[in-house]
Amino acid sequence: MSSTGPYTARQFNLSGLNGISDQTLEVHFKLYEGYVKETNKLTEKISEFIRDGNVDQDEMPAYSELTRRLGFEYNGMVLHEYYFDNMTSSGSGDPAKGSEFVKAAEASFGSYDIWKADFVGIGKMRGVGWAMCYQNPANGRISNHWITLHEIGNVAGFVPVLVMDVWEHAFLLDYKPAERPKYIEAFFSNIAWDAVEKRLKKITGVQSARA
Ligand SMILES: [Fe+2]
Repeated sequence: MSSTGPYTARQFNLSGLNGISDQTLEVHFKLYEGYVKETNKLTEKISEFIRDGNVDQDEMPAYSELTRRLGFEYNGMVLHEYYFDNMTSSGSGDPAKGSEFVKAAEASFGSYDIWKADFVGIGKMRGVGWAMCYQNPANGRISNHWITLHEIGNVAGFVPVLVMDVWEHAFLLDYKPAERPKYIEAFFSNIAWDAVEKRLKKITGVQSARA
């Protein structure tokens, strides 16, 4: 983002996904737009507090509350962009053997199947949040993590490679609450592995430049 102005909600062309209805996507895009709006609103409100160059003692409670909420809204905005960007209506299921991602999974977990068991397992954890596969830019290793809500559990400096929303709003129009595994299966069939690989490649480039 080159501008310092407010964020603009992005558009995603995802209709026709397998097992995730257009209706679900419409609702989800609206929720995402809400995060963009709230991020902008909170940023603006916080800027009013700091405009005079000081957060006064009597301003501190309100300022603190807005700043805490900013972590929730900001991550809600960004994680949804990663999530929508790593899906496509022309998904092929699992990645091609010998692809960069499979190589990273083998190097980090021993095999793609073990990596997947971990990622899917995280996706089935109780509670609302996200299953995340990150790459550590320092050594190229990938690891999977659970994020509670949007902001608790993000690993600082790690790069999100594959992002799966497991809040119930992501699947409740298509599946029952107890059918999250079916949604996860549908999600996998829609993964845009080319987008995932691009996130990996960027990091590989940085590493080889350093070496
Ligand atoms: Fe969501």
